[in-house]
Amino acid sequence: MNILVTGGLGYIGSHTCVALLEAGYNVIVADNLCNSKEETKNRINQITGKELTFYQLEVTSDYAVEEIFNQHEIDGIIHFAGLKAVGESVEKPLVYYYNNIVSTMVLARACQKYGVKRFVFSSSATVYGDNKAPFIEDMKLLPTTNPYGETKAMCERILTDIAKAYPVFSVALLRYFNPVGAHESGLIGEAPNGIPNNLMPYVTQVAKGKLEKLRVFGNDYPTIDGTGVRDYIHVLDLAEGHVAALNNLKEGAHVYNLGTGQGTSVLKLVKAFEEANGIKIPYEIAARRPGDIASCYADASKAERELGWTATRNIVAMCRDAWNFEKTYRKHGENTKKVLMLF
Ligand code: WQD
Repeated sequence: MNILVTGGLGYIGSHTCVALLEAGYNVIVADNLCNSKEETKNRINQITGKELTFYQLEVTSDYAVEEIFNQHEIDGIIHFAGLKAVGESVEKPLVYYYNNIVSTMVLARACQKYGVKRFVFSSSATVYGDNKAPFIEDMKLLPTTNPYGETKAMCERILTDIAKAYPVFSVALLRYFNPVGAHESGLIGEAPNGIPNNLMPYVTQVAKGKLEKLRVFGNDYPTIDGTGVRDYIHVLDLAEGHVAALNNLKEGAHVYNLGTGQGTSVLKLVKAFEEANGIKIPYEIAARRPGDIASCYADASKAERELGWTATRNIVAMCRDAWNFEKTYRKHGENTKKVLMLF
């Protein structure tokens, strides 16, 4: 079966392409390389010993996406392509609404035109807004604190309404918690452009000496040690969750949390990283980051019940693999470039 993976050279997309190829699927990737590199395609092929097909294009372009359907019989779509920096979405809302929503609608229209019945959508725990953790799929969604989160909630609603109108259309809406770590080879992983927003890549760059110390955004939250609690999930577990969703799609739209169900505070993650890698991470307590919530972790039971999937890798493996990638990736040298947004 041929699976179109949009954003397939990105962090989660690339690990999912590995899992798909290893599961015997043929993979066609569409990616505009705004936050990824074409070199990642070679590394996916190297890891799997297989060849994916790659198109550099804008998924917001009907015409460009049409080209893929003219060349290939597509049996399913996993849609990762989109912008995902919470802070940037507040500064550039139009860029985020346009990219994240139009890309989803272009793909949904192509599904209708070409009779594609399987659609897996990359959503986020951000859609839960300020609900109280553990987050459960049928919870009422509260407004998020940023346009990024709103685009994910809107895309979920669009895809759900399409599936209601066309029941043969099977959609899995996957709400990720905090993906971290990297493939054990160290060939692919999280390589953000510039100074990392997220905790783990920031920690690995402090460990590497690229950044001086970690700023812990607040230690006065109502949590075990006052620092923010998150549900960190190994990116390989997340990738396997996508294959499980694809293999277990059923008619209509279905929401699944992809998390471990365990909450880990910032200071506990730092301690786990230090113990797993034998490296001291200097840090200082700083002010809370606007938009952050105290606790975010999943009730992960529905994916286990309905998809037969559960996360298996622990926080030590996440820290070890993240550090291994930082060492290996940087050794290969990265030529990171920032593609200026056109809006
Ligand atoms: C984790 C914890 C911070 C950096 C984001 C997106 C979410 C999803 C995952 C896309 C928080 C603290 C962080 C630092 C810190 N992305 N922190 N110092 O914000 O939970 O989730 O990424 O779907 O949508 O919102 O992840 O890694 O930025 O923060 O203290 O330098 O680490 O306050 O408690 P977040 P994060």
